[in-house]
Amino acid sequence: MFNEIPASILERMEQLRRIDARDRTDGTTRLVRLRQVPRETGKFIALWAAAAPEGRYLEIGTSAGFSTLWLALACRTIGRRITTFEVLPEKLALAKETFACTGVGDVVDQVAGDARDYLSDISDISFCFLDAEKEVYKDCYDLIVPRMVTGGILIADNAIDHRDTLQPLIDEALADPRLDAMVVPIEKGELVCRKK
Ligand SMILES: C[S@@+](CC[C@H](N)C(=O)[O-])C[C@H]1O[C@@H](n2cnc3c(N)ncnc32)[C@H](O)[C@@H]1O
Repeated sequence: MFNEIPASILERMEQLRRIDARDRTDGTTRLVRLRQVPRETGKFIALWAAAAPEGRYLEIGTSAGFSTLWLALACRTIGRRITTFEVLPEKLALAKETFACTGVGDVVDQVAGDARDYLSDISDISFCFLDAEKEVYKDCYDLIVPRMVTGGILIADNAIDHRDTLQPLIDEALADPRLDAMVVPIEKGELVCRKK
């Protein structure tokens, strides 16, 4: 998977990485910045996605599609599709461009809107990467966990760099009898949950 990444995907990943790095230092507002995961986190979520059981694959918080590209690599490897949700029109447009220029339309379905409006209609969730505003994590968690298949994986980003905000949810996940969960200290911290 990682040694055969198509050139178009590598090029777009590098382009997005440069835009994100520039915007973090030039005063671009938080809402406009791509705020995408580091490369190592991309690889981490792709490995989990490639190992998840059969079912629906979701991503909440597409931004410009950097993390989606990593998940698309996993989906291609194991013959699955991923649905990715984004609320902001500017980010949706950038992600559309990302998916078009990298040709991942065969495995990526893009949804415009607040993921919380769609989750109650989705069942058999086998993988979800949650990387939205931290204020919506709890709502998403409450909607996703009951809809996960046995062995399904939920990964929530920013479990360490946003620990103050996310601590109540992390505590809930660690004590949740429906899950096995832990915080993995990679990059910004990933809360990894497996449905029992
Ligand atoms: C940290 S960025 C995602 C970065 C992306 N996962 C990546 O690594 O390339 C968070 C994104 O989530 C979007 N978002 C926030 N709340 C959302 C919601 N309720 N449903 C869908 N997207 C949401 C924001 O507009 C923003 O673009």
